[in-house]
Amino acid sequence: MGNSFLVTTAIPDPGLQLLSDAGRVTVLPEPPDYGTLAALCASGEYDVVLTQLRDVMDAPLLADARVKGVSNFAVGYNNIDVEAATRHGILVGNTPGVLTDATADIAMLLILGTARRVVEADRLVRDGKFLGWEPELLLGRDVSGAVLGLAGFGRIARATARRALGFGMEVLFSPRPPGDRPVSYQELGEFAGKVRQVPWNELVARSDFLSLHVPLNDQTRHLVDAEVLGRMKPDAILINTARGPVVDESALAESLRNGTIAGAGLDVFEDEPRLAAGLAELPNTVLLPHVGSATVAVRSEMARLSALNAVAIAEGRTPPHPVNHLARA
Ligand code: GLV
Ligand code: GLV
Repeated sequence: MGNSFLVTTAIPDPGLQLLSDAGRVTVLPEPPDYGTLAALCASGEYDVVLTQLRDVMDAPLLADARVKGVSNFAVGYNNIDVEAATRHGILVGNTPGVLTDATADIAMLLILGTARRVVEADRLVRDGKFLGWEPELLLGRDVSGAVLGLAGFGRIARATARRALGFGMEVLFSPRPPGDRPVSYQELGEFAGKVRQVPWNELVARSDFLSLHVPLNDQTRHLVDAEVLGRMKPDAILINTARGPVVDESALAESLRNGTIAGAGLDVFEDEPRLAAGLAELPNTVLLPHVGSATVAVRSEMARLSALNAVAIAEGRTPPHPVNHLARA
């Protein structure tokens, strides 16, 4: 029972319970700033730190950290310098799988919501401006028959494809933009014959809805920039449920303002919680506060998985969902 866990932000019960069954738990009263977190990690008082996406675990912090591991309460782990962690013998865990469907639901919701102008429509009703049925009130776009382009073809992209096919969309994907590394027919699995793989350039040019499902890294930062936006169709809509910095958000705001593309549905932002100037004033956007995984059941599962990872690391075992592996001593 000598294990000690630092939890930077309270997580749902099943997680905290698992941790306290396995050792001492410190939950910070508010999200720590970088200096506070660095000092706590360097104190030597904690075996494992359970982090959130907003906790920046960069190379300098990890170099001074005296912890065995970092358990991230998320599937994405761009907040952690995993290479540095590995170098310093620190294990990293994440929470894959459990949030796939919930996040794909949000991608589909943003597709439908932008196509059918849900935010404008809701506002009109609340503002008392719904004066009765009108033949040309808030006309939107058809989703069925439209081309959905998936940037990436991991779990969440595939779950989104499944939904989109149910809505009668034509689904294209580019597995690893911007570099095209094709997936084999075998890897297509249930999607063989139902979705089509195209090069990134073609995906950009052909999509009515371009939906991003790539991890954030050096290759994908600003994957969608002014140049890419300029090659999209003028009536295309950009959907982002992945990570904000995959899009150059100022360029996006500008493209939406001047009609380079028609709309955007965003669950993530480049500099959360701040928005690029002008974005919130545009009518042709649906903007959500990073809620892809935000269901009661999913957040409980994420809490459970992140706690299981943390306990395993503290006890010297391989976590059930490892992001890195350490060379055996
Ligand atoms: C949320 O954005 C996650 O990566 O789990
Ligand atoms: C993330 O979990 C993905 O594979 O899309």
